[in-house]
Amino acid sequence: MNLKTTYLGLKLDTPLMAGASPLANDLDMVRRLEDAGSSAIVMPSLFEEQITREQFGTIYDLEAGSESFAEATTYFARVDDLRLGPDNYLDQVRKVKAAVKVPVIASLNGVTPSGWVEFATQIQQAGADALELNLYYLATTPLETGEAVERQLLDVVRMVKACVTLPVAVKVSPFFTSLCHFAKSLEAAGADALVLFNRFYQPDLDIEALEVEPSLNLSSPSTLRLRLRWLAMLHSQIGIPMAVSGGVHTAEGALKATMAGATAVQLVSALLLHGPELIETLRRDLLQWMEEHEYDSLDQMRGSLSLTKCPNPQAFERANYMRVLAGWKA
Ligand SMILES: Cc1cc2nc3c(=O)[nH]c(=O)nc-3n(C[C@H](O)[C@H](O)[C@H](O)COP(=O)(O)O)c2cc1C
Repeated sequence: MNLKTTYLGLKLDTPLMAGASPLANDLDMVRRLEDAGSSAIVMPSLFEEQITREQFGTIYDLEAGSESFAEATTYFARVDDLRLGPDNYLDQVRKVKAAVKVPVIASLNGVTPSGWVEFATQIQQAGADALELNLYYLATTPLETGEAVERQLLDVVRMVKACVTLPVAVKVSPFFTSLCHFAKSLEAAGADALVLFNRFYQPDLDIEALEVEPSLNLSSPSTLRLRLRWLAMLHSQIGIPMAVSGGVHTAEGALKATMAGATAVQLVSALLLHGPELIETLRRDLLQWMEEHEYDSLDQMRGSLSLTKCPNPQAFERANYMRVLAGWKA
């Protein structure tokens, strides 16, 4: 019985890995993650804005908005808080590589099909084993069509792929009108895997101070549901592996994600809450559950609860939707 999996061409002992977060900024933490059984280390993202700022001395076109939006200038300070600039980022890739034997997956976050993507080449030269590309884009005007947004993001993927021979995973949001179509297009653009999902920053409002409150909540196990739905939907409709990111806190969550179709299981909130040693607990619990249920491998269960096994996913979705609403008892 084993937990082996292959993700991004990397042969891994388990699907469990630390997802993109500041955990990989600390080398002691990185070693603890490896000791606990993290089968790869995903680095936090370097943002397109950090690269273009170094290249062109600017972040966005905030000056243009600063008169009409008094807060605009304060964004500079906040962006300055970002820990690693491009050179430091490359240094950190090298240091993490030297600190652990498991594969290191660097992460870029960007949305503009332009020169910054060439930084991917330097990440490759710094020794990363793979790259995660986080496409975090919010269309903010009625002039932007869904089609144009998708075209732009696909261009970014193609450009990054043209810069590297590394495998590239694309981390997406669930907010596409036809995610199945977009996922297929990402595959055609060269994505070697998908990561479901990034979490959109959802600011709160302070009604006393009349301010927007940036907030980042850690996930709970219920966060996983949306991922399960789309893993199950996409499994076997696309030919590339998928990693789940969001809401895995227990071995049960990892099993659900695998049965829905995930090949890799990324954890962040659970590790921030319980420490890297949680990975070891999850690994043990996974093996115990598999022994009790007579599974030899994760391959055996992968996709067993995929929606694509269902003859009519559309009807299945609507029927269940109707059933849960009608079944509610006050
Ligand atoms: C403190 C923190 C920092 C994060 N930084 C990044 C990042 O740099 N790049 C990225 O792609 N995702 C980042 N994420 C998102 C996580 O990789 C992950 O997608 C998200 O937290 C959902 O997974 P979880 O439920 O296991 O936390 C961050 C999350 C947290 C909590």
